[in-house]
Amino acid sequence: MKTFDRDLVSHLEQMRAELYGTPERKAATEERLAEMEAQRQRNDAQARSQRAVTLMVEGGVPRGVMDSAAEAFDTTEATIAASEAAAGKLRLAVLLGPPGEGKSTAAALACYEVALRGNRPMWTRPQDYADKYGAREFRAKCMGAQLLVVDDVGTEAASDYQRSEMLRAINDRHDRRLPTVITSNARNAAQLWKHLGGRVESRAKQGTRIVMCGGKDYRGR
Ligand SMILES: Nc1ncnc2c1ncn2[C@@H]1O[C@H](COP(=O)(O)OP(=O)(O)OP(=O)(O)O)[C@@H](O)[C@H]1O
Ligand SMILES: [Mg+2]
Repeated sequence: MKTFDRDLVSHLEQMRAELYGTPERKAATEERLAEMEAQRQRNDAQARSQRAVTLMVEGGVPRGVMDSAAEAFDTTEATIAASEAAAGKLRLAVLLGPPGEGKSTAAALACYEVALRGNRPMWTRPQDYADKYGAREFRAKCMGAQLLVVDDVGTEAASDYQRSEMLRAINDRHDRRLPTVITSNARNAAQLWKHLGGRVESRAKQGTRIVMCGGKDYRGR
């Protein structure tokens, strides 16, 4: 009986080894499967990132700013506010301050977040309005974007018509709870509202974060 048991046990072990491999082979197979899964996840992340970059390019995000965003290492008040706009938690993120403080970079990071989720960001400057694709198409693009960036407000040489189109986009998006990020060299909010007018100022009382970027001129380092 004992011999039979031993025979049976070894026979079963042999069968299991044939079916599932030895414990060593099983461990090696699992390791290979884990490696393949990790590689699949890396490929997935890379493909998502490439799709996001394409959406950003299509949305007009300048290459230089995209490169800055890819290398940005600091989390700042500006990156946090822009990210909250990207997540739809803010209707308006206003990033103010002198040159080189990372305002456009923060806005580009927010565009990347939106694009990673497969949605469209759009990047504009005041002088782009009503000019680039024709007013009607431009308007539709501004309203259709998941996130709109209006970069460098206040330094532009925009015509009155372009300015009024820009204001219309900012106001209409706010009314429809679509997020917008504005960057400007204005010294404070009062100066920006003076430039943008009372209708934007009034809307900025709701769902808006104003960030004063200061003291960190990255370019000067
Ligand atoms: N979060 C960050 N971490 C590290 N470096 C950053 C960060 N943000 C910006 N930088 C660096 O600072 C440089 C200037 O940033 P950026 O162009 O965003 O400034 P800006 O405030 O938009 O300036 P301007 O008012 O002239 O448009 C970038 O090229 C980038 O290299
Ligand atoms: Mg800038």
